[in-house]
Amino acid sequence: MIPYGRQSINDDDIAAVISALKSDFLTTGPQVELFEREIEQVVGAPCVVVSSGTAALHCAYAALGIGPGDEIITPPITFIATQATAALLGAKIVFVDIQLDTGNIDPSAVEAAITSRTKAIVAVDFAGHPACLDELRVIANKHGIFLIEDAAHSIGSIYKNRPVGSIADLTTFSFFPTKNMTTAEGGAVASIHPNLLQKARRFSRQGLIRDKDEFLIKTEGDWHQEVHEFGLNYRLSDILCSLGISQISRIDYFKAKRDELFDNYGLALSGISSIKLPRRLADSNPMWHLYPIRVPIEKRKAIFERLRMDGFGVQVNYIPAHWHPVFGKSVRKDLPLTNSEQFYKSEISLPMWVSESQWTEEYFEKLVISIESEL
Ligand SMILES: Cc1ncc(COP(=O)(O)O)c(C=O)c1O
Repeated sequence: MIPYGRQSINDDDIAAVISALKSDFLTTGPQVELFEREIEQVVGAPCVVVSSGTAALHCAYAALGIGPGDEIITPPITFIATQATAALLGAKIVFVDIQLDTGNIDPSAVEAAITSRTKAIVAVDFAGHPACLDELRVIANKHGIFLIEDAAHSIGSIYKNRPVGSIADLTTFSFFPTKNMTTAEGGAVASIHPNLLQKARRFSRQGLIRDKDEFLIKTEGDWHQEVHEFGLNYRLSDILCSLGISQISRIDYFKAKRDELFDNYGLALSGISSIKLPRRLADSNPMWHLYPIRVPIEKRKAIFERLRMDGFGVQVNYIPAHWHPVFGKSVRKDLPLTNSEQFYKSEISLPMWVSESQWTEEYFEKLVISIESEL
């Protein structure tokens, strides 16, 4: 089975990890700061590295002080971590619909969802394509709320000549093996606001304060550290940061290969008139994480099963989050989610990952035959 996503590991990555293992540090050492600086070069804002994309979201919400009584606005077409981490802090999740062409949150649907309790709009860059960040920023500023970008899919993507990470108040990344680059498990929070980044960092490091000037207890010795607000251990180890440094040095190559595969899918599939292919909006230059096609709703299951049977490890991204039973009756009925449900019912993600040898003419020919046999 050809997986829908997988890591690209080379000898340099292996050497980097071995060298970290031989060093004095296994957990927090020099590689952490080095990796954070490398990420900053790519995303255009300082960041803190953490142990997963889920941890990154949790830290971002904690940095905003999100808690009971607050609401966040999110699209349903995302992985549940986007919502779970805010819900666990006590926030109410408000779902708004997506745009069918990108799968991203629809700015024109956001305003109807805003209440006096809304704390943040959380955009998700579905498949790697940046959300409509400028439109969302205007709405956020108008209402005095924050813009968070769940960029788990989109490190390396560019929006209107600006890198993803340099635009939203807080941006979160994931380095899971299927993502655009990997540290096995890992993630990062970037922020254009030093005070929010500091809060995210502190939350990811048990809330520990080591700066003497901030101490409330002044009597202790050099060993002293104290906690003003609780945090958790979301540190990313030196071993994984060294893998990240090696991976991120190849991000341009990864992007070019993903782009090439995107274009080759387009060439191979554009003749099948009943399926819709992902498209790039004019102002965006995505680093593609997924290749999401949309097929006729009544044929989705058969096409999915045929592709799996023929060795294509396709996926469906994602079950609309508001369908998860955990939300029960809390989903607002006055906000239509029609596009999200329609998108989900027709969506299939084709394999998308970096390889020099996998994406042959034969691969595309077989794929077309498989899809057409069920249409
Ligand atoms: C949109 C989105 N947000 C958050 C996450 C969570 O990332 P992680 O798996 O690194 O915790 C994922 C992971 O799949 C994701 O796709």
